[in-house]
Amino acid sequence: MENAVEVSELKKYYDDVKAVDGVTFTVETESIFGMLGPNGAGKTTTIETIIGLLEGTAGEIYVLGMETSEKISDVKKRIGVQLQDPSLFPRLTVGETLDLFAAFYPEPLSVQEAAEQVGLSSSLDGRINSLSGGQRHRLAVSLALISNGDIIFLDEPTTGLDPKARRDLWETIRNVRRNGSTVFMTTHYMDEAEKLCDELVIIDHGKIIATGSPDRLIEDNFPHQAVEFADPGLSPEDRNDLLGISASGGINFEENEGKVILYSEDVGKTVTDLIDYTRKLGIDLDNLKVRSATLDDVFLKLTGRAIENE
Ligand SMILES: Nc1ncnc2c1ncn2[C@@H]1O[C@H](COP(=O)(O)OP(=O)(O)OP(=O)(O)O)[C@@H](O)[C@H]1O
Ligand SMILES: [Mg+2]
Repeated sequence: MENAVEVSELKKYYDDVKAVDGVTFTVETESIFGMLGPNGAGKTTTIETIIGLLEGTAGEIYVLGMETSEKISDVKKRIGVQLQDPSLFPRLTVGETLDLFAAFYPEPLSVQEAAEQVGLSSSLDGRINSLSGGQRHRLAVSLALISNGDIIFLDEPTTGLDPKARRDLWETIRNVRRNGSTVFMTTHYMDEAEKLCDELVIIDHGKIIATGSPDRLIEDNFPHQAVEFADPGLSPEDRNDLLGISASGGINFEENEGKVILYSEDVGKTVTDLIDYTRKLGIDLDNLKVRSATLDDVFLKLTGRAIENE
């Protein structure tokens, strides 16, 4: 089966601003593909170029096997799009707006179904200009879903939503995949990318700096797990001994904000040695936990800075 999207050496320059600077990636069908990056990284520009809203400066784009510069009108019938900042008619109702968008597609979802998927069923008669920011945002997502398209493009679908609405939308996005479509989404939320996406590209300053599944990205960059516990007030000798334990299964020893962290390639051994040792000394291990690295750690390592979310 052909890939949902294939992008090769895509560039989009605005005079001297290299918004997208030679990105290459493939989106498999029936997957949730995420483009993760900070503000200004080039996410919206990439999406808008793929869907034919912007003309690229260079590069090739295939959507559902069709070269977009030749077949954009065929492509548009088969994709749904949620833009980051959509223009809507303020005096239309939610239902009328959905109805309007449904007319663009050969086999749309019903208005009721599209509204239901984003929790707007009870707001169908509400006018656009009376919606809250979160409701407007969810409407924008349902305008993509109503296409019933083979690929649903979502540009920061959960920005500005409350935690429950966010989790509900994650489930809706998973349903899109379950129903056999593909999702191409952008986000700057690490946890969202980690939990939701099958495959990710991390983009920064218009360039892709890493590609892979969330697990793969974390594993490749951080093969070690962290064994953490509250610092029980260790003497210098204790610290030396702990370094020994760390060396037996782990690779590093750190103290950070009242916590002791042992990075380990063999967590089982490190934890067993640690418990034996602290028992002998009569030290209580408080808040002992084993944790994996997260995408935050990966981003920090690759770019030297953390993504700042609003
Ligand atoms: N029409 C334009 N003219 C000039 N520069 C632009 C234009 N559109 C975008 N840019 C620049 O291109 C870069 C990428 O912008 P883009 O909107 O694609 O980023 P983004 O990753 O979507 O960011 P955000 O997370 O804030 O939505 C930014 O430096 C932006 O200022
Ligand atoms: Mg954007």
